[in-house]
Amino acid sequence: MDTDTKHRIAVCTSCKHKGTQIGPGHALIDTLRSALRAHGDPAVQSFEVSAVACMAGCDRPCAVAYHATGKASYLFGDLDPETDIPDMVRFAGDYAAMDDGWCASVDRPGKLRTSTIARIPTLLFDAQSKKVKAS
Ligand code: FES
Repeated sequence: MDTDTKHRIAVCTSCKHKGTQIGPGHALIDTLRSALRAHGDPAVQSFEVSAVACMAGCDRPCAVAYHATGKASYLFGDLDPETDIPDMVRFAGDYAAMDDGWCASVDRPGKLRTSTIARIPTLLFDAQSKKVKAS
């Protein structure tokens, strides 16, 4: 892993369960931050967790994104602070270890296999052609 790479997890704090005003985002942020800090791997501990108002995954509360410079980004939905934190922490370790962040659904832990809303390739600058391309 490039030691300069900043890994971030963005959690939607506007998502609400259907028919309620209950939003899981703030609880998910608190629980996830504690779990990441308690992990033994410094790469996992270094993840920043931030609140975001909306990531267009509104029908799938709670929406959560993983992103880092030079890596594919992921948007997941349906994540629950009561049940999905261990899988989210495990994926943080996997994601930190990947050079380009690209992985198949079968390589993601638990619910992250089936709750992917989007996988977005990183943009790379090709110095020879002087063009930006997706990885
Ligand atoms: S309200 Fe959470 S993604 Fe839109």
